[in-house]
Amino acid sequence: MLDSLGNLERTHSCGELRGETVGSEVVLMGWVAKKRDFGIFTFIDLRDREGVTQIVVSEETANKAHAKAKNLRGEFVVAVKGTVVERTKETINAKLPTGEIEVQASEILILNDAKVPPFQLEVAGTENLASEDLRLKYRYLDLRRTRLQQNLITRGKVLTKMREFMNVNGFIEIETPILLKSTPEGARDFIVPSRIQTGKFFALPQSPQILKQISMIAGFDKYYQIARCFRDEDLRADRQPEFTQLDIEISFANQEMVFRTMEGVLKQVFTLSENDFETPFPRMTYSDAMSRFGSDKPDLRFEMELQDLSEDLRETDFAPFAETLKNKGEIKCVVAKGKADYSRKQLDELQEFVKRYGASALAWIKLGDETTSSLHKVLGQEKIERLSQIANAEKGDAVLIVAGKKSVVAQGLGALRIEIAKRENLIPKNVYKPLWVTEFPMFELSDDTGNYNAMHHPFTSLMDEDVLLFKRAIENDETELLGKIRARAYDIVINGYEIGSGSIRIHQREIQNLIFKALGLTPEKARERFGFFLEALEYGTPPHGGFAAGIERIVMLLCQTDNIRDVLAFPKTASAQDLMMDSPGAVDAAQLDELGIKITEES
Ligand code: AMO
Repeated sequence: MLDSLGNLERTHSCGELRGETVGSEVVLMGWVAKKRDFGIFTFIDLRDREGVTQIVVSEETANKAHAKAKNLRGEFVVAVKGTVVERTKETINAKLPTGEIEVQASEILILNDAKVPPFQLEVAGTENLASEDLRLKYRYLDLRRTRLQQNLITRGKVLTKMREFMNVNGFIEIETPILLKSTPEGARDFIVPSRIQTGKFFALPQSPQILKQISMIAGFDKYYQIARCFRDEDLRADRQPEFTQLDIEISFANQEMVFRTMEGVLKQVFTLSENDFETPFPRMTYSDAMSRFGSDKPDLRFEMELQDLSEDLRETDFAPFAETLKNKGEIKCVVAKGKADYSRKQLDELQEFVKRYGASALAWIKLGDETTSSLHKVLGQEKIERLSQIANAEKGDAVLIVAGKKSVVAQGLGALRIEIAKRENLIPKNVYKPLWVTEFPMFELSDDTGNYNAMHHPFTSLMDEDVLLFKRAIENDETELLGKIRARAYDIVINGYEIGSGSIRIHQREIQNLIFKALGLTPEKARERFGFFLEALEYGTPPHGGFAAGIERIVMLLCQTDNIRDVLAFPKTASAQDLMMDSPGAVDAAQLDELGIKITEES
């Protein structure tokens, strides 16, 4: 028989009681985390989101409660009335914030029972957790784990800090619709069929980009929104189909104003960690980031920059290097400090690693007692010594070299740099290194279509210095020049994660038209997709710019997890499913009929 809660109310949470409360009468409610029977005593660890308190039930002083406690099992929901008592010195639990005390129960109410959970909730170490799929199916049980509770509580605090900062600084929170038209972020849209407008579809926002710009045209001046975004793209460890941004836009803004705002808000948010951010954040151009770190999101917690060996190898007749340089490729290296003792097997593994990024091989020099190298025969001792010098390698180090197309070298060595840092524990914990990456290219060549796409989005303005070159490229049809045009676009990177992106926007219709032309969008197509926006641009658009920061990535950093699912209450799997609700799911034939939709093929 279950007990009724009646009018009973909690006096404290399970994480709250300390030594000072000894002697007080309390009422706690929560879940049974653990029960131990010791004959006349039963101990219960009672858990709620604030923590755990030990309850002791004695047969002598609370006979009825003791009998009831015998029936309790894990995850039963109970209320306990009792007195706070001091634990004896030997039984104090220093690991538990409430470990100085226990509650001597006088009465226990069993508010609900529970089936035996399909997995054990609290286990030591993440490697002992049940499979993630099982935990996602029973997400409500997994969410009872302290770690996930803490993550979601941190997420809530992040949002509160953001709102506080934006409100104090004169930003207006504007909610934009979820049922929208295709937005320009470049991923696939999630679409929603309209019943009333049969045969037509809404698209869920990939971001509120256009609407926040229109809010500037409407005169709101400083906008923000904690905005839900939807993108149907291939998922990675730091991507979900549905995620949240702190989205901002400012009128009459230059880049510095946007930078100051974002630095201010992130400084405030990261007070939730033990670290303070120094502002302004350091800055690096995209082109420097790519050449020094092989990445547009360099992790600055450790050094190991890429070094360029191309110049010194210009005269070589070693065919793979000569070919690379003839084809405008590069030969670069990273130095693994103190790793002259890499074994053949380890070097082979690292070679396999860079091959995943398209590199054809990994050459090496080991500066041990003797200098040895995979290039010894083809380059000779003197050249090998010279290359080690250029690489700034010292005795005891290994130099790891990749030759190939610029993008392959950057990706391969950029990833190798991180891999080695992880393997050799070079990455300090509890350190945050923010960075602005600036001057992104406006256009990037798509490998699939061979056309240029907007690297950020098509509403990004160009760097003043590059406008003439851009006009020349369009007027003379010199499309190869497009790759050189830089945008007033910037990212914030922290510890190798792209936390957010933004740009100063185009506010003049004429430039916007040219950008569409460069992107191969005919005036008709542009009008069809963004006509309403292009028209709005003609009614007095102030210069404006903004930014969007990914909430999940920020919370991942604060909670020190590299799994995005750890910072969302109800995440999707890598194959975009919700295992708890079993969604996406089929819909009734009648519902499809009403929408005028026919499924032609079972997938
Ligand atoms: P962008 O597309 O770069 O810019 O997105 C901004 C930030 O949102 C986060 N993010 C994601 N987080 C989780 N899962 C995803 N699938 C995902 N996609 C993006 C990242 C990213 O840096 N409208 C522009 C911003 C602007 O120009 O103001 C935009 O959305 O942290």
